[in-house]
Amino acid sequence: MVGASVCRLLQSQHPEVELVLRSRQDLDLTQASQVDRFFQETKPDAVIFAAAKVGGILANASFPVEFLSENVRMAINAIESAHRSGVQRFLFLGSTCIYPKHAPQPLCEPSLLSSPLESTNEAYALAKIVGLKLCQYYRTQFKAVYHSAMPTNLYGPGDNYHPEHSHVIPGLLRRIHEAKVQNAPTVTLWGSGTPRREFLYVDDLARALVHLLTLDSPPDWINVGTGEEISILELAKRIAKTVGYTGTFGLDTSKPDGTPLKRTDPSLIFSTGWNPKIELADGLVRTYQDFLIRIERGNLRSK
Ligand SMILES: NC(=O)c1ccc[n+]([C@@H]2O[C@H](COP(=O)([O-])OP(=O)(O)OC[C@H]3O[C@@H](n4cnc5c(N)ncnc54)[C@H](OP(=O)(O)O)[C@@H]3O)[C@@H](O)[C@H]2O)c1
Repeated sequence: MVGASVCRLLQSQHPEVELVLRSRQDLDLTQASQVDRFFQETKPDAVIFAAAKVGGILANASFPVEFLSENVRMAINAIESAHRSGVQRFLFLGSTCIYPKHAPQPLCEPSLLSSPLESTNEAYALAKIVGLKLCQYYRTQFKAVYHSAMPTNLYGPGDNYHPEHSHVIPGLLRRIHEAKVQNAPTVTLWGSGTPRREFLYVDDLARALVHLLTLDSPPDWINVGTGEEISILELAKRIAKTVGYTGTFGLDTSKPDGTPLKRTDPSLIFSTGWNPKIELADGLVRTYQDFLIRIERGNLRSK
């Protein structure tokens, strides 16, 4: 989702940039020799590293071995090979789950490694911290500008709609769409519906990433978010409005809520001149349009 959005942005607004792209079939980033060959052959000037094994809470909790091992290997292979081939600028994508479970809200950059992580996504978070720190160490040791961005929860075109392993917005959007199609009177949400979360439209993140690459001296890691949050129940109602679903929402309070509030403090990236532009209502409409087109074409991502 992120890589495709960055490509759309660069192709439409920076035609001078020559993109070097490979599908996963052509380049498995967990294989060091393949990654090294790719960098030696192509020698790019800059890298935006948007590849990862990604998933929601259930996927993270069910497959911690893959989440840690594949993500660490991909990050180390890419960062090391990029440096060996002379890449001067490397932007690694982390996630706000790198911050400790009880870090003060809103989440600020200095909270990294200040106390234990949330256990459900610890494996993924550890892999992201390895990538972030390796970039920081390359910068310190070799003066190459290797740095990281920590996006909040993302949504937008090309998201993964796996029925159990997807993130909040694609998961809700799919269930509410299916409830509409099946005339189901109620959609049941996990938990109390009260936890508050922050969401960023993926094209806003793409602008942030390209912006960060233009800064001479970016921070080692920086949050990318809106600084605004919404409750899960309110989010579900907004999605229902977007989809045209007129049923009601039930709450399964036997399911865990997670932390009551999670959002970033984006003041550091705001101070560098980037701001999000796409409001949630607008972003949901664009996302639903993309969802419907993919269903019609039979290429909705759900693995
Ligand atoms: N989505 C979010 O809410 C969110 C929030 C914060 C941070 N992020 C970060 O943003 C980045 C992009 O996430 P995304 O949402 O765009 O995820 P995505 O759509 O799943 O994109 C990740 C890409 O990495 C590829 N990939 C996975 N393993 C690979 C391998 N071994 N070799 C080559 N390619 C491989 C995937 O290929 P396949 O499609 O073939 O699996 C996929 O195309 C990730 O670093 C993620 O941690 C995402």
